[in-house]
Amino acid sequence: MKIIITKDNIEGGTKAFEIIKTGMKNGAKVLGLATGSSPIPLYSDMVDSDLDFSDMTSINLDEYYGLAPDNDQSYHYFMQHHLFDQKPFKHSYIPNGLAKNIHEEVDHYNKIIEENPIDIQILGIGGNGHIAFNEPGTPFGSLTHEVKLTENTIKANSRFFDNIDDVPRQAICMGIRSIMNSKKIVLLAFGESKQDAIKAMIEGPVTEEVPASILQDHPDVTIICDEVAAAKLS
Ligand code: F6R
Repeated sequence: MKIIITKDNIEGGTKAFEIIKTGMKNGAKVLGLATGSSPIPLYSDMVDSDLDFSDMTSINLDEYYGLAPDNDQSYHYFMQHHLFDQKPFKHSYIPNGLAKNIHEEVDHYNKIIEENPIDIQILGIGGNGHIAFNEPGTPFGSLTHEVKLTENTIKANSRFFDNIDDVPRQAICMGIRSIMNSKKIVLLAFGESKQDAIKAMIEGPVTEEVPASILQDHPDVTIICDEVAAAKLS
């Protein structure tokens, strides 16, 4: 694991942007993307850049089940707003939160990932060590799957909704094995709420109780975190 400690999330976003820029120069064609607060400075650097993504493919990690793409809390909406409206990709894949048959959507998404191997995967991390919606206890061998959100995650995500009851209880999410199949992984983490997760991911045992700890076994991972998030590292 390569660890880059930055002053703040803005510098962190710029470091991640440089990795993407170099990756594209070296032929990267498929980006795996995340939502949440951590990658926002990266997306804003991408938007402000002169890079052209119109021959690239993006594949997002996850989507709430039950939200329409134009719902302003859907991950579709988030990606449009922060990146795709300004910088369109040739193909942008996000799980369909309104799929009638969730199992068919899961199979369909696995096929998309299989046909478009991810060159660079951007990740955030939850305070409990989750990556995407893969909560503690998710098998390391998982592919795209249907998820029931934990109370912890519902609470953490409720800050984006008017009311905690509006937070969907289910999601469709790329599995841990799908994430590990990416050629390169860049994980972003900023702020005090990430201190324990960062320590457990980097210095703790590799265990399904800390989903992000599996990244210790990936050959090309860069962790970008600010000084505050890194404060508990020994
Ligand atoms: C986002 C996602 C989540 C977030 C994580 C951190 O697509 O799957 O795992 O990356 O919850 O969220 P932030 O960045 O808001 O702290």
